[in-house]
Amino acid sequence: MIVLDNSDALRGKVSTWKEGGQTIGFVPTMGALHAGHLSLVKQAIAQADIVIVSIFVNPTQFAPNEDFDAYPRGLEDDLKKLEPLGVQAVYAPRVEDLYPDGTAATKKAGEAARGLESDFRPHFFDGVVTVVSRLFDQVEPDLAIFGEKDFQQLKVIREMVAHDQRPIRIYGGETKRDALGLALSSRNAYLSADELEIARMLNQILYGLAHGIDEGIDIDDACDNAKEMLLEAGFDRVDYVTYKSEWKRVLIAAWLGKTRLIDNAPVGSVLLLS
Ligand code: PAJ
Repeated sequence: MIVLDNSDALRGKVSTWKEGGQTIGFVPTMGALHAGHLSLVKQAIAQADIVIVSIFVNPTQFAPNEDFDAYPRGLEDDLKKLEPLGVQAVYAPRVEDLYPDGTAATKKAGEAARGLESDFRPHFFDGVVTVVSRLFDQVEPDLAIFGEKDFQQLKVIREMVAHDQRPIRIYGGETKRDALGLALSSRNAYLSADELEIARMLNQILYGLAHGIDEGIDIDDACDNAKEMLLEAGFDRVDYVTYKSEWKRVLIAAWLGKTRLIDNAPVGSVLLLS
Protein backbone atom coordinates (compact mmCIF):
# COMPACT_ATOMS: atom_id res chain seq x y z
CA MET A 1 0.00 0.00 0.00
CA ILE A 2 1.41 3.34 -0.98
CA VAL A 3 0.57 6.67 0.59
CA LEU A 4 0.37 9.57 -1.86
CA ASP A 5 0.49 12.92 -0.13
CA ASN A 6 0.21 15.23 -3.12
CA SER A 7 -1.66 15.40 -6.41
CA ASP A 8 1.40 15.03 -8.68
CA ALA A 9 2.33 11.74 -7.04
CA LEU A 10 -1.28 10.58 -7.40
CA ARG A 11 -1.56 11.56 -11.06
CA GLY A 12 1.70 9.73 -11.86
CA LYS A 13 0.38 6.50 -10.37
CA VAL A 14 -3.07 6.86 -11.89
CA SER A 15 -1.66 7.24 -15.41
CA THR A 16 0.50 4.12 -14.97
CA TRP A 17 -2.51 2.10 -13.81
CA LYS A 18 -4.69 3.47 -16.62
CA GLU A 19 -2.06 2.67 -19.25
CA GLY A 20 -1.96 -0.86 -17.89
CA GLY A 21 -5.71 -1.15 -18.47
CA GLN A 22 -6.50 -1.55 -14.77
CA THR A 23 -9.84 -0.37 -13.39
CA ILE A 24 -9.82 2.04 -10.46
CA GLY A 25 -12.26 1.90 -7.54
CA PHE A 26 -12.42 4.91 -5.25
CA VAL A 27 -13.65 5.46 -1.69
CA PRO A 28 -13.49 9.09 -0.54
CA THR A 29 -13.40 9.63 3.24
CA MET A 30 -12.49 12.20 5.86
CA GLY A 31 -10.56 9.62 7.89
CA ALA A 32 -11.12 8.49 11.51
CA LEU A 33 -11.97 5.24 9.80
CA HIS A 34 -14.40 2.73 11.29
CA ALA A 35 -15.98 -0.51 10.10
CA GLY A 36 -18.51 1.44 8.00
CA HIS A 37 -15.75 2.99 5.90
CA LEU A 38 -13.94 -0.33 5.72
CA SER A 39 -17.05 -2.08 4.38
CA LEU A 40 -17.10 0.38 1.46
CA VAL A 41 -13.42 -0.31 0.87
CA LYS A 42 -14.05 -4.07 0.77
CA GLN A 43 -16.86 -3.50 -1.71
CA ALA A 44 -14.46 -1.52 -3.93
CA ILE A 45 -11.80 -4.21 -3.68
CA ALA A 46 -14.33 -6.79 -4.89
CA GLN A 47 -15.10 -4.72 -7.98
CA ALA A 48 -11.93 -2.98 -9.17
CA ASP A 49 -8.31 -3.90 -9.92
CA ILE A 50 -6.90 -0.94 -8.02
CA VAL A 51 -8.49 0.68 -4.97
CA ILE A 52 -7.68 4.20 -3.87
CA VAL A 53 -8.99 5.57 -0.55
CA SER A 54 -8.77 9.29 0.02
CA ILE A 55 -8.44 10.81 3.46
CA PHE A 56 -9.10 14.52 3.54
CA VAL A 57 -11.04 16.63 6.02
CA ASN A 58 -12.66 18.96 3.55
CA PRO A 59 -12.81 22.54 4.87
CA THR A 60 -15.50 23.75 2.45
CA GLN A 61 -18.18 21.43 3.82
CA PHE A 62 -17.86 22.84 7.34
CA ALA A 63 -19.40 26.18 8.32
CA PRO A 64 -17.21 28.45 10.50
CA ASN A 65 -19.21 27.47 13.63
CA GLU A 66 -18.90 23.73 12.94
CA ASP A 67 -16.40 21.10 14.08
CA PHE A 68 -13.67 21.35 11.39
CA ASP A 69 -10.87 21.87 13.95
CA ALA A 70 -12.21 19.26 16.36
CA TYR A 71 -12.89 16.64 13.65
CA PRO A 72 -10.95 13.48 14.62
CA ARG A 73 -7.72 13.01 12.67
CA GLY A 74 -5.32 10.06 12.90
CA LEU A 75 -3.59 9.09 9.68
CA GLU A 76 -1.35 6.43 11.24
CA ASP A 77 -4.30 4.56 12.75
CA ASP A 78 -6.23 4.85 9.51
CA LEU A 79 -3.34 3.38 7.52
CA LYS A 80 -3.13 0.45 9.93
CA LYS A 81 -6.78 -0.32 9.28
CA LEU A 82 -6.44 -0.11 5.50
CA GLU A 83 -3.18 -2.00 5.03
CA PRO A 84 -4.52 -5.53 5.75
CA LEU A 85 -7.49 -5.09 3.41
CA GLY A 86 -5.37 -4.97 0.26
CA VAL A 87 -5.81 -1.33 -0.74
CA GLN A 88 -3.25 -0.21 -3.35
CA ALA A 89 -3.11 3.47 -2.47
CA VAL A 90 -4.18 6.01 0.11
CA TYR A 91 -4.46 9.56 -1.15
CA ALA A 92 -3.96 11.99 1.73
CA PRO A 93 -3.52 15.32 -0.05
CA ARG A 94 -2.61 18.74 1.29
CA VAL A 95 -5.25 21.48 1.18
CA GLU A 96 -3.48 23.13 -1.78
CA ASP A 97 -3.71 19.96 -3.86
CA LEU A 98 -7.49 20.28 -3.89
CA TYR A 99 -7.79 24.03 -3.38
CA PRO A 100 -4.94 25.71 -5.28
CA ASP A 101 -6.98 28.93 -5.49
CA GLY A 102 -8.26 29.12 -1.93
CA THR A 103 -10.72 27.09 0.11
CA ALA A 104 -14.03 28.09 -1.40
CA ALA A 105 -16.79 25.89 -2.82
CA THR A 106 -16.96 26.54 -6.57
CA LYS A 107 -19.59 24.00 -7.54
CA LYS A 108 -23.32 24.02 -6.79
CA ALA A 109 -25.14 20.90 -5.69
CA GLY A 110 -28.33 20.07 -7.60
CA GLU A 111 -31.97 19.34 -6.75
CA ALA A 112 -31.26 16.39 -4.46
CA ALA A 113 -29.54 18.79 -2.08
CA ARG A 114 -32.77 20.67 -1.40
CA GLY A 115 -34.23 20.45 2.11
CA LEU A 116 -33.19 18.07 4.90
CA GLU A 117 -29.44 18.65 5.53
CA SER A 118 -29.42 21.86 3.50
CA ASP A 119 -32.07 23.44 5.74
CA PHE A 120 -29.61 23.18 8.63
CA ARG A 121 -26.22 23.10 6.87
CA PRO A 122 -26.77 25.28 3.78
CA HIS A 123 -23.07 25.30 2.84
CA PHE A 124 -22.65 21.53 3.14
CA PHE A 125 -23.49 20.00 -0.23
CA ASP A 126 -21.75 22.70 -2.30
CA GLY A 127 -18.61 21.84 -0.32
CA VAL A 128 -19.14 18.13 -0.86
CA VAL A 129 -19.70 18.34 -4.63
CA THR A 130 -16.74 20.72 -4.99
CA VAL A 131 -14.31 18.36 -3.28
CA VAL A 132 -15.73 15.15 -4.74
CA SER A 133 -15.62 16.46 -8.30
CA ARG A 134 -12.01 17.63 -7.80
CA LEU A 135 -11.12 14.24 -6.34
CA PHE A 136 -12.80 12.55 -9.32
CA ASP A 137 -10.73 14.71 -11.70
CA GLN A 138 -7.52 13.58 -10.00
CA VAL A 139 -8.30 9.94 -9.21
CA GLU A 140 -10.18 9.26 -12.49
CA PRO A 141 -12.05 6.29 -11.01
CA ASP A 142 -14.17 3.81 -12.95
CA LEU A 143 -16.35 3.37 -9.89
CA ALA A 144 -16.80 5.08 -6.54
CA ILE A 145 -18.61 3.99 -3.39
CA PHE A 146 -20.57 6.12 -0.94
CA GLY A 147 -22.46 5.06 2.19
CA GLU A 148 -26.23 5.00 2.55
CA LYS A 149 -25.61 6.35 6.06
CA ASP A 150 -25.41 9.75 4.36
CA PHE A 151 -28.34 9.00 2.09
CA GLN A 152 -28.91 12.52 0.81
CA GLN A 153 -25.19 12.83 0.03
CA LEU A 154 -25.37 9.63 -2.03
CA LYS A 155 -28.32 11.08 -3.97
CA VAL A 156 -26.49 14.38 -4.51
CA ILE A 157 -23.39 12.60 -5.83
CA ARG A 158 -25.41 10.37 -8.18
CA GLU A 159 -27.18 13.43 -9.53
CA MET A 160 -23.88 15.30 -10.01
CA VAL A 161 -22.28 12.40 -11.89
CA ALA A 162 -25.32 12.05 -14.17
CA HIS A 163 -25.50 15.79 -14.78
CA ASP A 164 -21.78 16.12 -15.53
CA GLN A 165 -21.90 12.95 -17.65
CA ARG A 166 -18.95 11.45 -15.85
CA PRO A 167 -18.18 7.84 -16.81
CA ILE A 168 -18.10 6.75 -13.15
CA ARG A 169 -20.35 4.07 -11.66
CA ILE A 170 -21.61 5.12 -8.22
CA TYR A 171 -22.47 2.41 -5.70
CA GLY A 172 -24.21 2.77 -2.34
CA GLY A 173 -22.96 0.77 0.64
CA GLU A 174 -25.22 -0.36 3.49
CA THR A 175 -24.98 1.39 6.85
CA LYS A 176 -22.83 -0.48 9.34
CA ARG A 177 -24.02 -0.41 12.96
CA ASP A 178 -22.61 -1.42 16.30
CA ALA A 179 -23.96 -4.41 18.22
CA LEU A 180 -26.87 -2.33 19.55
CA GLY A 181 -27.72 -0.75 16.22
CA LEU A 182 -26.09 2.68 16.52
CA ALA A 183 -24.87 3.73 13.07
CA LEU A 184 -21.09 3.96 13.08
CA SER A 185 -19.85 7.52 12.61
CA SER A 186 -16.54 9.27 13.16
CA ARG A 187 -18.50 11.81 15.22
CA ASN A 188 -19.57 9.11 17.73
CA ALA A 189 -16.11 9.68 19.21
CA TYR A 190 -17.42 12.97 20.62
CA LEU A 191 -20.08 11.22 22.74
CA SER A 192 -19.69 10.79 26.50
CA ALA A 193 -20.75 7.47 28.06
CA ASP A 194 -24.11 8.98 29.08
CA GLU A 195 -24.67 10.46 25.64
CA LEU A 196 -23.84 7.13 24.03
CA GLU A 197 -26.69 5.51 25.98
CA ILE A 198 -29.10 8.12 24.65
CA ALA A 199 -27.64 7.90 21.12
CA ARG A 200 -28.59 4.23 21.03
CA MET A 201 -32.27 5.24 21.18
CA LEU A 202 -31.99 6.96 17.80
CA ASN A 203 -31.95 3.83 15.68
CA GLN A 204 -34.74 2.25 17.72
CA ILE A 205 -37.01 5.25 17.22
CA LEU A 206 -35.96 5.47 13.55
CA TYR A 207 -36.75 1.84 12.81
CA GLY A 208 -39.96 1.98 14.86
CA LEU A 209 -41.10 4.79 12.57
CA ALA A 210 -39.79 3.25 9.34
CA HIS A 211 -41.40 -0.08 10.10
CA GLY A 212 -44.75 1.50 10.98
CA ILE A 213 -45.13 3.63 7.86
CA ASP A 214 -47.75 2.35 5.48
CA GLU A 215 -50.59 3.84 3.51
CA GLY A 216 -53.03 3.84 6.43
CA ILE A 217 -51.16 6.15 8.81
CA ASP A 218 -50.83 9.90 9.15
CA ILE A 219 -47.16 10.29 8.36
CA ASP A 220 -46.79 13.82 9.72
CA ASP A 221 -48.21 12.69 13.05
CA ALA A 222 -45.92 9.68 13.13
CA CYS A 223 -42.88 11.90 12.45
CA ASP A 224 -43.94 14.39 15.15
CA ASN A 225 -44.40 11.52 17.54
CA ALA A 226 -40.90 10.19 16.79
CA LYS A 227 -39.51 13.69 17.37
CA GLU A 228 -41.16 13.79 20.81
CA MET A 229 -39.72 10.37 21.61
CA LEU A 230 -36.21 11.58 20.72
CA LEU A 231 -36.55 14.59 23.02
CA GLU A 232 -37.93 12.40 25.80
CA ALA A 233 -35.04 9.98 25.33
CA GLY A 234 -32.65 12.86 26.06
CA PHE A 235 -31.76 14.38 22.69
CA ASP A 236 -31.29 18.11 23.08
CA ARG A 237 -32.65 19.22 19.72
CA VAL A 238 -34.12 17.56 16.65
CA ASP A 239 -33.29 19.12 13.28
CA TYR A 240 -35.68 16.89 11.33
CA VAL A 241 -37.62 13.65 11.30
CA THR A 242 -38.85 13.30 7.74
CA TYR A 243 -40.39 10.69 5.50
CA LYS A 244 -39.14 11.31 1.95
CA SER A 245 -41.58 9.52 -0.33
CA GLU A 246 -39.41 9.61 -3.51
CA TRP A 247 -36.69 7.79 -1.64
CA LYS A 248 -39.05 5.63 0.46
CA ARG A 249 -36.90 6.48 3.46
CA VAL A 250 -37.23 8.00 6.86
CA LEU A 251 -34.39 10.37 7.74
CA ILE A 252 -33.46 11.86 11.10
CA ALA A 253 -30.96 14.45 12.31
CA ALA A 254 -30.71 15.24 16.02
CA TRP A 255 -28.33 16.80 18.50
CA LEU A 256 -26.85 15.37 21.67
CA GLY A 257 -24.88 18.12 23.37
CA LYS A 258 -22.45 19.40 20.72
CA THR A 259 -22.74 16.27 18.58
CA ARG A 260 -25.06 16.06 15.60
CA LEU A 261 -26.14 12.56 14.62
CA ILE A 262 -27.88 11.53 11.40
CA ASP A 263 -29.41 8.23 10.38
CA ASN A 264 -32.01 6.88 7.94
CA ALA A 265 -33.92 3.71 7.14
CA PRO A 266 -36.04 2.37 4.29
CA VAL A 267 -39.78 2.27 5.03
CA GLY A 268 -41.12 -1.09 6.08
CA SER A 269 -37.69 -2.23 7.19
CA VAL A 270 -36.77 -3.85 10.46
CA LEU A 271 -33.45 -3.56 12.22
CA LEU A 272 -31.69 -6.89 12.42
CA LEU A 273 -28.91 -6.89 14.98
CA SER A 274 -26.05 -9.31 14.56
P1 PAJ B 1 -17.00 10.50 5.82
O1 PAJ B 1 -17.99 11.00 6.81
O2 PAJ B 1 -15.62 10.15 6.27
O3 PAJ B 1 -17.62 9.23 5.14
C1 PAJ B 1 -16.97 8.59 4.08
C2 PAJ B 1 -17.92 7.57 3.48
O4 PAJ B 1 -18.24 6.57 4.46
C3 PAJ B 1 -19.25 8.21 3.05
O5 PAJ B 1 -19.65 7.69 1.79
C4 PAJ B 1 -20.19 7.80 4.16
O6 PAJ B 1 -21.55 7.73 3.75
C5 PAJ B 1 -19.66 6.43 4.52
N1 PAJ B 1 -20.07 6.00 5.86
C6 PAJ B 1 -20.03 6.74 7.01
N2 PAJ B 1 -20.54 6.01 8.03
C7 PAJ B 1 -20.91 4.81 7.53
C8 PAJ B 1 -21.50 3.63 8.09
N3 PAJ B 1 -21.81 3.55 9.37
N4 PAJ B 1 -21.74 2.57 7.26
C9 PAJ B 1 -21.40 2.64 5.94
N5 PAJ B 1 -20.85 3.72 5.35
C10 PAJ B 1 -20.60 4.81 6.14
O7 PAJ B 1 -18.95 11.53 3.78
C11 PAJ B 1 -17.84 12.07 3.86
O8 PAJ B 1 -16.82 11.57 4.64
C12 PAJ B 1 -17.48 13.32 3.07
O9 PAJ B 1 -18.64 14.09 2.90
C13 PAJ B 1 -16.83 13.01 1.70
C14 PAJ B 1 -17.78 12.26 0.77
C15 PAJ B 1 -15.52 12.23 1.88
C16 PAJ B 1 -16.47 14.36 1.00
O10 PAJ B 1 -15.63 15.12 1.78
